[in-house]
Amino acid sequence: MMNRCLNNAIVVLLLLSSPLICIGIRYFPVTGETAIQSRSDVLSGFTEAPEYRNGDSCSHDAIHVAMTIDLEYLRGSIAAVHSVLRHASCPENVFFHFIAAEFDPASPRDLTRLVRSTFTSLNFKVYIFREDTVINLISSSIRIALENPLNYARNYLGELLDPDVNRVIYLDSDIIIVDDIQKLWNITLQNNRVIGAPEYCHTNFTNYFTDSFWSDPVMSRVFGSGRKPCYFNTGVMVMDIEKWRKGNYRKRIENWMEVQRKKRIYELGSLPPFLLVFGGNIEPIDHRWNQHGLGGDNVKGSCRSLHSGPVSLLHWSGKGKPWVRLDEKRACPLDHLWEPYDLYKRNQPLDV
Ligand SMILES: *[C@@H]1O[C@H](CO)[C@@H](O)[C@H](O)[C@H]1NC(C)=O
Ligand SMILES: *[C@@H]1O[C@H](CO)[C@@H](O)[C@H](O)[C@H]1NC(C)=O
Repeated sequence: MMNRCLNNAIVVLLLLSSPLICIGIRYFPVTGETAIQSRSDVLSGFTEAPEYRNGDSCSHDAIHVAMTIDLEYLRGSIAAVHSVLRHASCPENVFFHFIAAEFDPASPRDLTRLVRSTFTSLNFKVYIFREDTVINLISSSIRIALENPLNYARNYLGELLDPDVNRVIYLDSDIIIVDDIQKLWNITLQNNRVIGAPEYCHTNFTNYFTDSFWSDPVMSRVFGSGRKPCYFNTGVMVMDIEKWRKGNYRKRIENWMEVQRKKRIYELGSLPPFLLVFGGNIEPIDHRWNQHGLGGDNVKGSCRSLHSGPVSLLHWSGKGKPWVRLDEKRACPLDHLWEPYDLYKRNQPLDV
């Protein structure tokens, strides 16, 4: 049974539909003829997913999941959705909120059509992320290194998502869930916390910020007075969007991006502002929900192994992506755990 409220509506929202002229600056490497060829190739290369059925004891309460969707990571996003539904005890209760970039080589309409034809009964919406709202806030030195402004979309979920969405699980596109997402959804955010994520307190936090940050007594005091900040990965977060909106966390993060624009206080793109605002004050979720770093480093061609302990979510963060390595016949051992979720069939060898 499907909840009436969760019908297959496709709503395309404009984030802050301001009259500002779109400056049209793009940072995607995909342009020109090759982009057009790969777009039609990719968009027509997926097979339909099997049907997913709710168990007997499912309520109609929706589980909201937000994820970005773009041509470059499309294969990852589709595999991630498939993995979520495949292992969910109540797959028909999962509602996906896809955030698409305004100028992606695959238009939001193309992406919507693709999701619809791949997952025929999926509850989802596609939202358009206006990149110009964030591009002006990204310091120029960081812009060059940025792969994708959609990395910043997670900061705008409060505005993007429907006002009646109070909680959301944010997931990167290079993940696979091999457990019931309901367990992650059910996590309690204690002590008024706004987000939950696995924390890594042995990581040296110093390295995420520059000397000019630590040598500034006012700024570095952010982490003073009893606050014990730990690294966390923003690719998997349970977010209380209601508290997020009320506490104006979008603005708090943007304030640090403003600081970064004037004075280089960190090297990475979208992660450090989250560490500045939330470090030491997140709900620590079991590490099984983000086995990260599996992307390793493309340049060195290094493969990673799993951390010890149980695994509910595999995350190919880092430069290498499993679909790329599999296609290039230089897969890492763990990439074969991703492979069964790949719904992109165009590249299947014909000689098998
Ligand atoms: C999640 O919480 C709901 C409502 O409290 C409960 O019915 C369900 O069994 C829980 N599911 C899991 C997997 O923890
Ligand atoms: C963390 O890194 C900084 C800078 O690289 C170093 O000075 C500091 O000793 C390190 N701290 C720990 C606890 O390893």
